[in-house]
Amino acid sequence: MTSPDDILESDRLYVRRFTPADLDDLAALLGDPDVGRFLGGAKDRTAVESTLQNRAIAYYDQHPGLGMWATIERGSGRFLGFHVLNHIHGEPDIQVGYALVRDAWGHGYATEMAVRLMRYGFDVRGLTQICAITNLDHVASQHVLLKAGLERRGERTFAHPILADQGPMAWFVADRATWQFPPRL
Ligand SMILES: CC(C)(COP(=O)(O)OP(=O)(O)OC[C@H]1O[C@@H](n2cnc3c(N)ncnc32)[C@H](O)[C@@H]1OP(=O)(O)O)[C@@H](O)C(=O)NCCC(=O)NCCS
Repeated sequence: MTSPDDILESDRLYVRRFTPADLDDLAALLGDPDVGRFLGGAKDRTAVESTLQNRAIAYYDQHPGLGMWATIERGSGRFLGFHVLNHIHGEPDIQVGYALVRDAWGHGYATEMAVRLMRYGFDVRGLTQICAITNLDHVASQHVLLKAGLERRGERTFAHPILADQGPMAWFVADRATWQFPPRL
């Protein structure tokens, strides 16, 4: 398959659209303080339900081929978290992003699907640039972005209420014209 609106596969993972039936898994993921450390804190079930509806399900119709998708382990069918290729809140820029359940960290999963989504974004969606933002102290995520071939281009602040509280954020960019994978670190 060639679109996450159906299924988009990498070696060990695939992403698919979220449905309302994913609420329990997403609430467990985003309710974990370790996962929420650089995402504005752990979220309660009501906040997660709103994210699922607005940031995932409703967004699919508004922006076909972009969005927030469930990340699944191919071998087991297990829910591991999510990847995004979507608008930064309140901005025209398209970002790549991810969050995985705690015991799935450290296996290269975040990087593997980030790269797959970037290939899809550049080759199938025709994006010319893909960006990412992380907390300035989030070394693991910054490492993922470098491994995925994005380049650090300083810091940015954002006006959208969801991002404004976080202050300056590390700003990463990959341009289609020059993006290479695997990149040199
Ligand atoms: C960020 C996150 C997705 C990383 O997932 P992951 O599957 O462990 O990532 P990967 O295994 O692909 O790569 C992590 C890399 O960072 C490195 N790393 C991890 N913690 C690190 C640290 N504290 N300092 C330096 N490097 C670190 C790892 O060694 C690995 O690099 P390597 O493959 O060269 O060894 C995961 O920690 C997570 O879900 N966190 C909670 C949600 C979140 O913060 N999302 C990102 C918001 S911007």
